[in-house]
Parts: sequence; C-alpha cells; structure tokens
Amino acid sequence: MPVLSSIRERFSEERPFAGMTVGMALHVEAKTAVLVETLAAGGAEVYITGCNPLSTQDDVSEALNTREGIHSYARRGADAEEYYAAIDRVLDARPAITIDDGMDLIHRIHTERREVLDSIIGGCEETTTGIHRLRAMARDGALAFPVIAVNDTPMKHHFDNVHGTGESSLSSIMITTNVLIAGKRIVVAGYGFCGRGLAQKARSLGARVIVTEVDPRRALEAHMDGFDVMTMDQAAPLGDIFVTTTGNMGVITERHFPNLKNGAILANAGHFNVEIDVEWLASHADSTVHRDGIDTYNIDGKAIHVLAEGRLVNLATPKGMGHPIEVMDLSFSVQALSAEFIAKHGRELAPGVHDVPSAIDEEVARLKLASLGLSIDRLTPEQETYMSSWTIGT
Ligand SMILES: NC(=O)c1ccc[n+]([C@@H]2O[C@H](COP(=O)([O-])OP(=O)(O)OC[C@H]3O[C@@H](n4cnc5c(N)ncnc54)[C@H](O)[C@@H]3O)[C@@H](O)[C@H]2O)c1
Repeated sequence: MPVLSSIRERFSEERPFAGMTVGMALHVEAKTAVLVETLAAGGAEVYITGCNPLSTQDDVSEALNTREGIHSYARRGADAEEYYAAIDRVLDARPAITIDDGMDLIHRIHTERREVLDSIIGGCEETTTGIHRLRAMARDGALAFPVIAVNDTPMKHHFDNVHGTGESSLSSIMITTNVLIAGKRIVVAGYGFCGRGLAQKARSLGARVIVTEVDPRRALEAHMDGFDVMTMDQAAPLGDIFVTTTGNMGVITERHFPNLKNGAILANAGHFNVEIDVEWLASHADSTVHRDGIDTYNIDGKAIHVLAEGRLVNLATPKGMGHPIEVMDLSFSVQALSAEFIAKHGRELAPGVHDVPSAIDEEVARLKLASLGLSIDRLTPEQETYMSSWTIGT
C-alpha cells in the first residue's frame, strides 16, 4: 500500500492525532489494519470493532491488539449482543473522531450513547449505505456533528465500488462455489457503482449478464452498455447466479424464489443482509444443508444456494478476502487524510454530511500515479486561461 505508507511516514513525523482517540467500526481485515496503524503512527489511540459479524479476520484482530495504542474488539461470528457490546466498548473510549463503514457507530451514539457526543469532533463514513443513512439523519435534523462522505469522492467510488467490489465479489463466488462463470447467466441487481463493476467483470469472464434496476437512467445506461435489462420477476427463472448490489431491502423475495432454477446461486454484495430474504428461505425450506459459506435450501424439490448468509459476499464467505489491496490503498488513504482534516478543521464544520475536500482526492491520485511511475501532462498557462474564459468562441 504505497500511498498509505507514504501518508503513514508523514503522520509519524507530524503526529496530527496526538492526544486524540479514534473510534472505528470497519471490516477488520488485513488492509484495514494498515489504516489503523497509520492513524496510530499519527499519534491516535485507536479503538476498533467490526461493522459486520462475518467479515472479521480473527488473526488480524488479535495482531492489532498486540500493537501499542491499538485496541480491537472484533470477532468473526459475533452474535448481535456481542456485536453491539463491542461497539459500546469503542464508544466507552470517548472517541474524538469516528470512522464508520455503514454508520453503526454513529447510529449507536445518537440513539443509545448520547453522552459520547461531548467528546466528538467529527466522523468519516466509508460506504454508500452509511451515506444514505447519514443524509437521512441530516434531513431530519438529527445528525449532531460533521461527517465526511468518504464514499462519495471519485477516488473512492470509481475504484473501490467499481473495481474492488466487482472483482472481489466474483472471485469470492468462484472460490466458494467452484462454478464456471463462462456461459452462465448472471443477474446483477442494481446498476450503480458496484453493479457496473460486477456486470462488466462478469461479462469479461464470458457470462451473459442481466441487469435489474429501478432508476430509468441507470437502466438505460445498462442497456446501452450492452446488458439485458428486465425486472427481477422476468430474470428469476433465467438466472444461474444472482448478485444484489442495490443497498436496498427485499430485492429477491418469496415472490421470486419459487421461479428460480434448481441450483440457482444467490449472493449479496450490498452492505446489509436485507437484499435477499434469507429468513423466508430458512423458514420455508424442506431441508437445509450448511457448508463453508454456502447454505443450500431445498424448496419443492429445488436447491437454492445462498452464499455467506446473504451478507457481503466478498468479505463474509470463509475465503472472502475483501477488496484487492491496491484498491484499499486508495480508499484508506482518502480515509486517513479525511480523518486528519477532521482533526484539524472538524471544529469549524457545521453538523451534517460534508464532501471530501478536492485537494485530498487529488493528493491521493497524485501519490498513486507517482507510485506507479506514471506522469501526466500539465495545463499550459494558455490552456488554463482558455478553460476558465467565456470570450473565446468560433
Ligand atoms: N461489497 C462491498 O465491499 C461494498 C463496497 C462498496 C459499497 N458496497 C455497498 O453496495 C451497495 C451499493 O453501492 P453503490 O455504490 O453501487 O450504490 P449506488 O447508489 O451507486 O447503486 C445502487 C443502485 O441500485 C439501484 N436499486 C435500488 N433499489 C433497487 C431495486 N429494488 N432493484 C434494482 N435496483 C435497485 C439504484 O437505482 C442504484 O442504481 C451499498 O449498500 C454499498 O454500501 C459494498
């Protein structure tokens, strides 16, 4: 992670978080550990837990606990009670800065732990679903401090959501099931950043891709990108593999299950396990077989395979490694610099959702290009004038 490493070097010298506590709820896996160490190198006392009960790598969580100034409470397979107890332990440390992936820390602070508000300067949010929740809070006047929308910046969603989720979800499906992608009909629900990545990468492996959408513009984009567009009702009997990436609930439900093919594989890449109605399957199956990362529900003589209990397939299957390291180098560099921005300027910001300052985004892109040994052109003074003028025409 060359970009994050160069930020860590600067942080060790400048110590922007000296005397500050950072509370985090992220997928606790190897790349996240590098972000945690980067913040600790910058002087922060870091308290971290998971943001999904199945995405923690226990060896990473244990290793973090051996580091000076770092405390990890994440454990793979935590039930709801342990999951929230761990969030509470992070909040007991009275963080000045929160870093969330899905907004569970911020939700807990505003609902059950309002006393923690006294210590908070601001927060950062990693994913689309967290930003949706934050904007809904801000709309209701309920958000009590400033939060940087890390997900919404181009250096995050153009790479992490598109390439990271696209590649890692497919590789996780392949390694968990050992199925051939070539020739399969893959149904991608949602043609947002994650869905586009998945659809394009599945096609490049030889799959025939169907896209379902609710937004007419994105549906049209999928059509012109060469994918079949239809409703989930129409796609249900056609698909061999389904991947939901909508950030919405109830995308594949009891209406669709009876029409699926025998052997259909269902996976979710959206943040929460609400896109596929796994509860319905579990309560209506004639029998269920649980294997590593695959639950097979037998319904009316058909087998329906659900991966990772309908949780994030790229992280929550036993062999899911999450996004490739190059991608997380970019996303977590934006996180580290956004946290530094909150440490320095958070007190000047009004409560609400704020964009990542564009200088941060450019800095990460510049550092990444430098690490790749790539050079780009610079605007000449004449070009700068031309681009900012309205007087020069035909
Ligand atoms: N797996 C990962 O590691 C990972 C990484 C990044 C983001 N995410 C999560 O993936 C989800 C999608 O993120 P994104 O950045 O692509 O969001 P996005 O908003 O760009 O795209 C979501 C798309 O789904 C569509 N949609 C909504 N409801 C639908 C429905 N019922 N049927 C079909 N389409 C529907 C929307 O119109 C939109 O085009 C979020 O939950 C996000 O938090 C996961």
